[in-house]
Amino acid sequence: MLTAGPKGTNDILPGQVEKWQYIEQTIRDICREYGYSEIRTPVFEHTELFLRGVGDTTDVVEKEMYTFEDKGRRSISLRPEGTASAVRAYVEHKLYAQPQPTKVFYTGSMFRYANVQAGRYREFHQFGVEVLGSNDPAVDAEVIAMAMDFYGRLGLTNLELHINSVGCPTCRKSHREELQSFLRPRLDKLCKMCQSRFERNPLRVLDCKENSCQEAGRGAPTTTTGLCPDCADHFALVKTYLDTIGVRYIVNERLVRGLDYYTNTAFEIMAPDIGAQSSIGGGGRYNGLVEQVGGPVTPGIGYALGLERVLAAMEQQGAAFPAGLTLDVFIAALGEAAKNSAFAILNDLRKAGLVAEMDYMGRSLKSQMKYAGKFNTRFTVIIGDDELNRGMAVLRDMVVGQQEEVALGVLRDKIQSKKQEEKK
Ligand code: HAM
Repeated sequence: MLTAGPKGTNDILPGQVEKWQYIEQTIRDICREYGYSEIRTPVFEHTELFLRGVGDTTDVVEKEMYTFEDKGRRSISLRPEGTASAVRAYVEHKLYAQPQPTKVFYTGSMFRYANVQAGRYREFHQFGVEVLGSNDPAVDAEVIAMAMDFYGRLGLTNLELHINSVGCPTCRKSHREELQSFLRPRLDKLCKMCQSRFERNPLRVLDCKENSCQEAGRGAPTTTTGLCPDCADHFALVKTYLDTIGVRYIVNERLVRGLDYYTNTAFEIMAPDIGAQSSIGGGGRYNGLVEQVGGPVTPGIGYALGLERVLAAMEQQGAAFPAGLTLDVFIAALGEAAKNSAFAILNDLRKAGLVAEMDYMGRSLKSQMKYAGKFNTRFTVIIGDDELNRGMAVLRDMVVGQQEEVALGVLRDKIQSKKQEEKK
């Protein structure tokens, strides 16, 4: 069907796009203030990057990746997330040789062949940040605090921040064995997916959404109970830093996140108002990922937010958005000669930096005025043949409701000085 886009994709239309631009501007502002530079990576990568980086036992890679062979018979995948690509670029361009930490952010489309429902799409947009090169728990607190600050700036309230520590490979190993011993007698109660990844990745049972898995996992050893002293200290410090700056959190020992690269801190932000897909962002530390991708041993941490879900939460909560397109001037012309003159004035006003528009649909004067009203127009210039013959136009102040005749030659200056006065 040519009249509908592929399932799970969305068009962002005028009217809605202004909301996106507002969120994107907030992203750029906050990243500048927190010291993050933008990184732009390709939307497709070698499939191998995601297999090794994100993990071949994850739902994202195992079930949801858009993978194809290109004409050179290489296996290529559309990126399902941004961390692996940022890390690949960090290694490829030896960013680790620069003063550390490296702090980057990105926004863009991600692709997952997911079961489409409200808040879950096949092409969706993420804003993400990554900090590479430091294992300081203060960095963990910074990225978590930054995420919460971002939501706050957009006016979101009633959010839940869940944090946990999934430990390092050492404590993970003993926890994994304990977990497997706990779950083995309950194996037949687990969902098919968890059964198949039980040997490779039993941790995922802890945050599997299936009722049977939640039931079977009740009372299972959690990640935090088995943390080694270093990981326990690290987690304690993350919490202390968050407490210091008053960021409120819930320690959720079942939070393990869906991607394999996480070590130590893991966190997720929920917006209970937006329905089943309530996770509006999440992230964590990934101290083994740079090495996994072929770089030197380097710690890292980051998060990503789904912009569709952030927007849905804002709309749900009635958050304020800036006004859409507003016009400084609308020029209403009547008759062909007046239209020609209006076109010249329009050009002149725009070159002077004013937001100006005129009618291109042959509307009557009445409907031109009505059309101008749609854009919260500040001034309307009305030119008919009669005014034109006298070198004049009517300038109407749409807010005050008054109008005056102004010579065409001084129209631009007049509007500009009125605007200046208003600013004072
Ligand atoms: P993630 O939890 O897979 O983490 O995705 C982050 C966010 O993207 C989710 O919280 C959700 O808001 C949004 N999201 C995910 N899938 C979809 C979908 N199908 N439709 C709409 N929104 C979706 C990551 O991607 C990690 N790379 C985050 C990270 C960065 N960890 C460390 N650094």
